Amino acid sequence: MRAVRDHDVRWQQGRAFGMTYYISEEVDELLKEAYTLFFSENGLNPTAFPSLRKFETEVVAMTAALLGGDPSACSGEVVGNITTGGTESLLMAVKTARDWARQHKPEAREPEMVLPLSAHPAFDKAGEYFGVRVIHTPLREDYRADVGAMRAAITPNTILMAASAPAYPHGVVDPIHELAEVAQEHDLLFHTDACVGGFMLPFVRKLGYPVPDFDFSVTGVTSMSADLHKFGYAAKPASVVLYRDAELRRHQMFVYTDWPGGIYPSPTMTGSRAGGPVAAAWALMNFLGEEGYLHIAGAVMETTKYIQAGIAAIPGIRVISDPEMSVFAIGPSEEDGLDVYELADELSLRGWHFDRQHFPASLHVTVSYIHQAIREEFLRDLVECAEIVRRPSLRKSINRAVISVANAAARLLPEKWMSAAMDKASALLGGSGSGLPSRMAPMYGLIGSLPNRGDLKEFVLDLIDGINRYSEQ
Ligand SMILES: Cc1ncc(COP(=O)(O)O)c(C=O)c1O
Repeated sequence: MRAVRDHDVRWQQGRAFGMTYYISEEVDELLKEAYTLFFSENGLNPTAFPSLRKFETEVVAMTAALLGGDPSACSGEVVGNITTGGTESLLMAVKTARDWARQHKPEAREPEMVLPLSAHPAFDKAGEYFGVRVIHTPLREDYRADVGAMRAAITPNTILMAASAPAYPHGVVDPIHELAEVAQEHDLLFHTDACVGGFMLPFVRKLGYPVPDFDFSVTGVTSMSADLHKFGYAAKPASVVLYRDAELRRHQMFVYTDWPGGIYPSPTMTGSRAGGPVAAAWALMNFLGEEGYLHIAGAVMETTKYIQAGIAAIPGIRVISDPEMSVFAIGPSEEDGLDVYELADELSLRGWHFDRQHFPASLHVTVSYIHQAIREEFLRDLVECAEIVRRPSLRKSINRAVISVANAAARLLPEKWMSAAMDKASALLGGSGSGLPSRMAPMYGLIGSLPNRGDLKEFVLDLIDGINRYSEQ
């Protein structure tokens, strides 16, 4: 298994800018010990495992206190649960809103939620799962949610508005205060998705960086999510979903009373609930305390500023937004901008992993604690890779030609032929048909420039179907 791992991104060496969050060997040992101590326990039944109930309620109370809940914490009004991650927290918030609306807004027969385009797809997943239509609104030029556009999208069917602190693609905090006010005016629920920022922004603010209001200190915010397994540095999978009051949280809960197996209550999506992540989160929060988190946030912000200054000095690329914390995107400069997908390919040949984004083309960066150790090495590689991308090459010209041919074909071919055409194009561009091509830039270039995106979902479904099948490797 250690050998199989060889092909994974080397996150231990800070090569991933997202997905993993690591502090130190010492902290890892603590997490693992707490996790394995509660390896077999099951949070499904708190009467059997009062230990897990204690850990969960205390983690929720600490998170609530951090995010503007009643400072008397444990007896505070804000309530919540630990879930398996940001996605489950958002699923719960949407399900809660739907069931709240059935009681309080019966006129909303075909419920809708209004979100800025930058909101995480977990909302769209929730919409699909729970039958709530998603209305996406365009962003402002600074990539933040547009209050006017969101207000204009409200209909009698709207039940929920949501925005992020910060949003994943560009790392900017939406104008939560103004948006929550609009929600209140229309008697709607409002969710702040602080999955990324929940365990970072309060400390970033304490350090003196400007952070706008985003939490329960804003009157109209009715629910929030904050991920323990991101900037909480806890073990996966763990997140917290919070509600302004217990009455609202009741809509999250599931109870079935007619089962021969007994009365079945379940607070979140899953039935059995792993004890390990809950125990590990409790252990870590008590170990680090506010002081520990503050120290970590300070180091992360310093590293972020250092890397951003380095990027600013490289011709052809730039940070495309004005992020409040350590999440941002690298895009092409306005003049003589580089192809950032090519840049990501060059970087990945050196072991650096970046998620490619579109609208506009950019590379996602989440700086966390581990990156302070590799910041110089990263900037050195970034300078060299940018230099390589700036040079013309035959491969790049061929890619551009294939993309323009595929583009022309897309205008002419019926939709159902597009998958086959894209398959062909992907093979030409370095894809093997099974698995992912080593260079992704041509694929992203092709997808990004397609005039007809109707078939893109089918194409991606084919791709993930292949990835999720057994094959000898
Ligand atoms: C803003 C935001 N919300 C929600 C999520 C979903 O979190 P998870 O991947 O833990 O389900 C993410 C993940 O990156 C995110 O960035």
